[in-house]
Amino acid sequence: MPEVMGDNDMMLDQSLHVQFFESRGYLNTASMGLGPRSAIEAVQTALANWGSGSSDPSDFDVDIERARRAYARIAGADSDSVAIVSQVSVASGFVASSLPDGAIVLCAEEDFASLLFPFLADGRLDVRFVPLAELLDHIDPSVDLVAVSAVQSADGRVIDLSRLAEISTENGTRTYLDVSQAAGWLPIDAHRFDVTAGGAYKWLLSPRGSGFITIGSDADWLKPIYAGWYSGPDPWSSLYGPPLRLAEDARRFDVSPAWFDFVGAARSVELLADIGVEAINEHSVGLANRLRERMGLEPSNSAIVSLDTRRGDALAAAGIKASARAGRVRLSFYVYNTVDDVDRAADALLGE
Ligand SMILES: Cc1ncc(COP(=O)(O)O)c(C=O)c1O
Repeated sequence: MPEVMGDNDMMLDQSLHVQFFESRGYLNTASMGLGPRSAIEAVQTALANWGSGSSDPSDFDVDIERARRAYARIAGADSDSVAIVSQVSVASGFVASSLPDGAIVLCAEEDFASLLFPFLADGRLDVRFVPLAELLDHIDPSVDLVAVSAVQSADGRVIDLSRLAEISTENGTRTYLDVSQAAGWLPIDAHRFDVTAGGAYKWLLSPRGSGFITIGSDADWLKPIYAGWYSGPDPWSSLYGPPLRLAEDARRFDVSPAWFDFVGAARSVELLADIGVEAINEHSVGLANRLRERMGLEPSNSAIVSLDTRRGDALAAAGIKASARAGRVRLSFYVYNTVDDVDRAADALLGE
């Protein structure tokens, strides 16, 4: 993997750029990814069919299964361990509700609210916070669940996923991993964690309201509290009345689908899965490290760069879209970005 993307390093296949309408200077995927043309056109067609009365709810099943299978390839999981979800906060609520009274939940104090709040809102739980840098050291047999983001939203720090899985297994601690800022560019091996959850509107380039969870092989402790008709073995046969009928695989945790979102998600996630997470990682981290080098920083393993700078305003003036987070400027690099984006951002930040 090139630590820094050089002028002449191979980029991802340049034909990829025709997949996007306008991505020049867009360094804000950590807030919201850019939808590819294929996804946007498919959603537009689905909306037109809706308006003309020519669509049927069951038409969307095929898109949902395409999205589920493509996500499995991205997450390093079997598709029968993937469920669809709407938001991370919903997934966190479902994990929190599955824990017994008094369960000890260990979290990082810098982590994203949608991961944390559902645990804090459940008065039955004993939620404990430590700095992210100390999280792995605090996992011991008394901890029932560790809940943490694979990549921090505020500054892009990446937790050591292998160590997290190993230490948790050694201590009999369950794991809940938020992959919202990771899935797409970071290899995850989701099967190593009890539950992972991520919204798809950032690095999975999908409409807001689509997302995925994965469950591990020992999932009997998880309560499908959001089960509905779509959680049945055949959703179209579980529309009415008792008894409770649930799919045997992870589809029992499916929430009722946001139809149009998954039309987009199917195309976007397939596009990314076809490129491959390793290639995306090399490209995105290589670009991020080119910026880090220009700013006099050591290389890192993240596609997100967080800078303490007073020149954030210069970025907008140079046509760069970034975001302000935790008093710093956050820039994120993805499949549609180029060395030109990096160099324009660096020139603006350095006043060159
Ligand atoms: C790590 C992380 N988790 C979750 C979210 C979004 O949460 P939700 O899907 O509940 O809106 C974000 C958004 O920035 C995030 O960075």
